[in-house]
Amino acid sequence: MLETELLPVKQRPSVAYTEATKAVESDEEIRPMTEEQLIEGINRLRKERNAVILAHNYQLPIIQDLADFVGDSLELSRQAAKTDADVIVFCGVHFMAETAAILCPDKKVLIPDPEAGCSLAATVTAEQVRRWKEKHPDAIVVAYINTTAEVKAEVDYCCTSANAVKVIQSLPPDRDILFLPDMFLGLYVQRKTGRRMYLWLGECHVHAGFRAEEIAELLERSPDADLLLHPECGCISQCMLALAEGELPEDRTFVYSTSGMVRHAKESPRKTHLVATEIGILHRMKKEAPHKRFIPVREDAICEYMKTITLPKVYRSLRDMVYEVTVPPDIAERARKAIERMLEIV
Ligand code: 13P
Ligand code: SF4
Repeated sequence: MLETELLPVKQRPSVAYTEATKAVESDEEIRPMTEEQLIEGINRLRKERNAVILAHNYQLPIIQDLADFVGDSLELSRQAAKTDADVIVFCGVHFMAETAAILCPDKKVLIPDPEAGCSLAATVTAEQVRRWKEKHPDAIVVAYINTTAEVKAEVDYCCTSANAVKVIQSLPPDRDILFLPDMFLGLYVQRKTGRRMYLWLGECHVHAGFRAEEIAELLERSPDADLLLHPECGCISQCMLALAEGELPEDRTFVYSTSGMVRHAKESPRKTHLVATEIGILHRMKKEAPHKRFIPVREDAICEYMKTITLPKVYRSLRDMVYEVTVPPDIAERARKAIERMLEIV
């Protein structure tokens, strides 16, 4: 069920010219540094600070290559939770660094550019969740990890694209579910689990643009290719319907988190993969499955928030220990419960 009484926030955060961009551009030391010098500096500083660099699968190739660990949202939360480093430099978007800060209250969590937001996380506020809960006082509330700490503090469970179906399946069957903020992921999970769910009408501007028609056409033109879809894609429910009706090939269509896509590409006997998600993932796919061919369904599926993390900003982050991500203890404590409940399920 789509909820229309409370409407999602539509305004996207801007990363046109962030404070961190201005800072590196006007920095006397950083401005003349070459790529090699920046990488050398980052390697020296990460040892000195006992820092670990975590990067999301959508980060720029150069950032992925220098990271200690590259992964999807679930893997990055697990890595943060188990690291024995003193400092975590989080190369991803703000809600991901915040999740690390919630899980590791005794560590310093840095993000090289705190304005690296997320259009999806920005569609819902904590106040809206409180109002939604008032309308459905008996429902269980599940939030996708792409939400702020304040929103997570209001919900019962978190989930990521890798475990959303399992989280929903674990909930008592007689209870209603409020699912936020991604309606496409919600529609997908609803279809997979058959559960009664109220869905927030949020979407990610990068994934909302995928169309079922272009996917069907690409599949027809590449009869030997697998199709890998992220569940945030705007066409996901149409694709699920097309699958059920035999219009999309069941043996070649797969829905995965970003790291699930990489695993599939390595293990599948097929040589060609059509990839329906942000194109940053292609770097890791090509690196880990070099003999395969990857075709992005949309070349323009680029998340500007992810790409605002650059080499000079990572260097500055480690040099000046900026920008520290902190969450007020009362919010962190409530949000942690929702994240830990998820980590216990999968
Ligand atoms: P994953 O958890 O699948 O990496 O997705 C995160 C995300 O922001 C997708 O847009
Ligand atoms: Fe957010 Fe979309 Fe970027 Fe993922 S791709 S971080 S959901 S804006």
